[in-house]
Amino acid sequence: MENFTYCSPTRYVFGKGTESQIGNEAAAIGAKKVLVVYGGGSAVRSGLLDRVCDSLKAQSIEVSCLGGISPNPVDGPVREGIGICRDNNIDTIIAVGGGSVIDTAKAIALGVPYSGDFWDFYSGKAVAAQALPVGVVLTIPAAGSEGSGNSVITLEAEKIKISLRTDFVLRPKFAIMNPELTFTLPPYQTASGIADMMAHIMERYFTPTENVEITDRVSEGVLKAIIEEAPKVMAKPDDYQARANIMWSGTLAHNGICGTGRKEDWASHAIEHEISAMYNVTHGAGLAVIFPAWMTFMAQRKPGKIAQYARRIFDVKETKDEAAALEGIECLKGFFGSIGLPVTFAELGVPEPDIDEMVRRLHINKGEIIGGYIPLRAKDTKEIYRLAL
Ligand code: NZQ
Ligand code: ZN
Repeated sequence: MENFTYCSPTRYVFGKGTESQIGNEAAAIGAKKVLVVYGGGSAVRSGLLDRVCDSLKAQSIEVSCLGGISPNPVDGPVREGIGICRDNNIDTIIAVGGGSVIDTAKAIALGVPYSGDFWDFYSGKAVAAQALPVGVVLTIPAAGSEGSGNSVITLEAEKIKISLRTDFVLRPKFAIMNPELTFTLPPYQTASGIADMMAHIMERYFTPTENVEITDRVSEGVLKAIIEEAPKVMAKPDDYQARANIMWSGTLAHNGICGTGRKEDWASHAIEHEISAMYNVTHGAGLAVIFPAWMTFMAQRKPGKIAQYARRIFDVKETKDEAAALEGIECLKGFFGSIGLPVTFAELGVPEPDIDEMVRRLHINKGEIIGGYIPLRAKDTKEIYRLAL
C-alpha cells in the first residue's frame, strides 16, 4: 500500500424529503445570495426546482437561476453563470441535477473569483486554488460529482472534453440526496449511471499497486451491491430501498474511498471522453462499451487483477488467469446487456467511429501516455477502440 491523504469533506444529507432542508444547509454555510443551476427541464417538471427555491427563500436567501444545462456540458453556460454571479454579488452556487449540472456549477464557482478565462484551469494554464462554495441537490446517481473534487466540461467549438481534478477546492460543501427524486429517471439514464459508478470503482481497482487488500475488498463490496441492486431498480423504478442503495453506491464509488493507498488508472475514462466529446453519447453508456475492451486488452498482457475481479465479482471458477479474465469480461458484458446498455460502438449508435481522429485527440488532450495498470501509447489506445467495434 502507498502513503495517502484521504479527506472527503462533503456533508451528505441522505433520505426521503431531504430537499426541504436545502435552505437550512445553505444558510449554515453562510449563503446570502445563491445561483441555482439546473438542467434541461426534469427538475422543473417534477416541481423540485420550486421546492428548492422556496426553501432557500424561507431562509431569506436571494435566489437567481440558470437553467438549460445539457448533458456533456459545454463552456457557454459557464461563462453566462460567471456573469450572473458577478452582476448579482452571488456568494454560493447550488446545483440541482446530475453530473452535468454539478460540473457546470463547479466551473462557475471557480471562474467567479478568477480574473482570467475559466478554461485556463481546464487547459492547465492555471491551478485551481479558490472557488465559491457549491451545494448540491442530486437527481441522478452516476457521475459521483456530488462527492468528487472534479469537474468535466467540453470546450464546444473544439469538442475538447477535459476532466479537471482537484483534491479539495471543488468538493461540494454539502450534497442533499433523496432517492425518491430518482424515480423519474429514464431507464437508459439509470443504467448508464450504474455503468459509470462501476467504472469509477474499476478505474481504481485495476491498479499496479500491490497489497491493497482492504481497498480491494471495499471496492468489491460496493461493486457486488451495485450488481445485486441494479436489476431491482430497472424492474421497479420506484423501489425506494434499491434506489437508495444505488444512490449511495454512486457516491462511495467516486469520493475517493475506493482509491486509497494505490495508483489509479483512468485510461478508460480518458478514452471514453473522446467518444462523448465527438458523438455526444451518454458518458456511462460509452464506458459500458470501452471498459470491457480495455479489460480485454489487459487480459492478454497482464491478466492477474482482471482474473481476481472475475473470480471475486462474478464467481468465475477457472484457474488459469487469462481464461478467467476473459470469462469475467463476458460476465460484465452480459450484465451491461441485461440492464439495456450497449457493449459495442454499433450498439452505442456510432457504427463507424473515426478511431484515428479519437486517438489523435486523446493523446493531444491527455498526453502521450495514459493510464497506470499498463501505461498506454497511441498504438495501444487505437487497439482498444478497435476491440470495441
Ligand atoms: O437535464 P434534465 O432535464 O435534468 O435531464 C437529465 C439529463 O438529460 C436527466 N435527469 C437527471 N435527473 C433526472 C433526470 N431525468 C428525470 N428524472 C431525474 N431525476 O438525466 C440526463 C443526464 O444527466 P447528466 O447530469 O448528464 O448525468 P450524469 O450524472 O451521468 O453526468 C454526466 C456528466 O458527468 C461527467 C460526464 O463526463 C458527463 O459530462 N462526469 C463527471 C465526473 C465528476 N465530476 O466527478 C466524473 C465522471 O466520470 C464523469 O466524467
Ligand atoms: Zn465517469
